[in-house]
Order: sequence, then C-alpha cells, then structure tokens
Amino acid sequence: MPDLPRLGQGTWYMGEGDAPAADEAAALRLGLDLGMTLIDTAEMYGDGGAERVVAQAIAGRRAEVTLVSKVLPGNATRAGIPRACAASLQRLGTDYLDLYLLHWQGRTPLEETVEAFERLKDAGQIRAWGVSNLDLDELRTLPPGCAANQVLYNLEHRGPEFDLLPWMQQHAMPLMAYSPVGQAGRLLRHPALHEVAARHDATPAQIAIAFTLARPGAVSIPKAATPAHVRENAAAASLRLTPGDHATLDAAFPPPRRKLPLAML
Ligand SMILES: NC(=O)c1ccc[n+]([C@@H]2O[C@H](COP(=O)([O-])OP(=O)(O)OC[C@H]3O[C@@H](n4cnc5c(N)ncnc54)[C@H](OP(=O)(O)O)[C@@H]3O)[C@@H](O)[C@H]2O)c1
Repeated sequence: MPDLPRLGQGTWYMGEGDAPAADEAAALRLGLDLGMTLIDTAEMYGDGGAERVVAQAIAGRRAEVTLVSKVLPGNATRAGIPRACAASLQRLGTDYLDLYLLHWQGRTPLEETVEAFERLKDAGQIRAWGVSNLDLDELRTLPPGCAANQVLYNLEHRGPEFDLLPWMQQHAMPLMAYSPVGQAGRLLRHPALHEVAARHDATPAQIAIAFTLARPGAVSIPKAATPAHVRENAAAASLRLTPGDHATLDAAFPPPRRKLPLAML
C-alpha cells in the first residue's frame, strides 16, 4: 500500500438528492484539481448513491485518485464481502479500490472479514484493506496487514490521542480522521477556533483541519459539496499551527488525561 495522501474528501450525504449529483461530482473534481486526491465513500452512503456520484467525479481520472470505500458489517462475511465489493466497484465504475474498510465491527469475527479482504487483494479488486471505528482492544486482535483505521477525530473528540493514535503511530498505521470540521456544527462557532483563525487570516474550518493534520500519521477527510468550502479545505494543507496556537486550542479543547471509549457517529 503506498502512503495515503494526507488530505482527502469525504462523501457522506452525497448522492441523497440534497444537491444535484452533477454539482456534487463537480465539487469532488475541484478537490482533485486542488490536490485532495483521496476520496472516501461507502456502500452505506445514500444506499450506493454517494458511490455513483464518485463515479461521475473520477471518470477519466481514476489513476490520480486514492479511492476508499467501506463494507457494512452485515455484508462483512466470507460470502458477503465479494458481493458487496463487486457492487461497489460497479457503482464506482472502476475495477479496483485502493483501500476497502470494514465500516464498523458487527457480529462476524474479524478474522473471517480479514480472510475475505485478503482474497479480494489476491484477486486484484482491492489494493489494501483496513477498518473503521475500531478501538485499541479490537485493533490489537487483527491479523497483520491492516492499512488504516478510520475514526472520529477532531478537536471535540480527542480521545484517540490517549492510546489509540500513539499505538497506530508506533505501528505505522494511518489514522483517517473523520468529521474533522465537526460536521460544521458548534465546533466551527467556538471562539478559540476563531481566535486562532484570525492569527492566520484563515477560517475556523481550516484551523480544525490543520489541527488533525498536525498529528503524524493522520489523514483528514473533510466533506464539502460547496465549491468555496472545497477551496478552503484544500488550502488548509499548507497551514502550520504554532505552539501558541496549540496552547490556545488545548485550553479550549483539553487533550484526554485518561482512556475514553472511542466515540462514533
Ligand atoms: N467511518 C465512519 O464511520 C465515518 C463516519 C462519519 C464520516 N465519515 C467520512 O468522513 C467524511 C467527513 O465527515 P463528515 O461528513 O461527517 O463531517 P465533516 O467533514 O466534518 O463536515 C461536513 C460538513 O461541513 C461542511 N463544511 C466542509 N468544509 C467546510 C468549510 N471549509 N467551512 C464550513 N463548512 C464546511 C460541509 O458543507 P458542504 O457540504 O455544504 O460544503 C458539510 O456540511 C464523511 O463525508 C465520510 O466520508 C466516516
């Protein structure tokens, strides 16, 4: 598995009719143009609708994209995984995924899921496999070969910094930080983010993304269907937070002092 791009694009809520699919695909293409070449999607999003939007976005430019999709736990069985992957590939209009993730752990033993992932890898349908929403106890039990763990990580959810992120860093396993701008909720209204943003002539969303990117081994995947948001997010890659910025953010969003259960959306 080659190194993952540090900054990518999410697709949750795309392909659900909130906006014309062509506009959503155009936003993703703009992101590709601006260097956000990892696209994160899932069979769950819009019941396959998001994967269809991604197909439009990557048509004719598959080679420049690091394409990530996810299988639902109910499909993550020996027989279910090949079927789910084939359906995702068909919706995406491609013949391989760069990374295929277990969306969260269900009832199927992880070993069975990993065996099925390995078979897809041998067949060339996926380049690598990984997981999502797994905390350290489960992550430790995985057979070797896990290329990433995608978890909720942003200023409001710093729990992974206590033990999960350090372990992943030690094992050179990227942490894909989802919801890095807190789904544009109250996080972006927080005065501390506004204060740091003003120092950099930046926006609160850019600071929130820069915070996730400041962690070695982290990949950030903000979702944006609005072109102005896409431009802002791409520019966040070149923002460098100072020790003073980190102190301001730590005071407002204290790092964890003890183990917290992994939060998920
Ligand atoms: N593995 C999992 O269980 C899991 C769970 C959640 C998410 N994810 C993945 O992670 C991706 C990102 O997480 P998310 O979609 O939950 O949340 P997010 O990226 O934190 O927030 C997306 C929201 O923020 C807005 N936004 C984006 N950039 C902005 C900016 N610069 N300024 C102001 N608002 C901005 C977007 O608006 P517009 O769309 O209007 O631009 C959208 O409403 C998802 O799309 C999905 O691919 C994975």
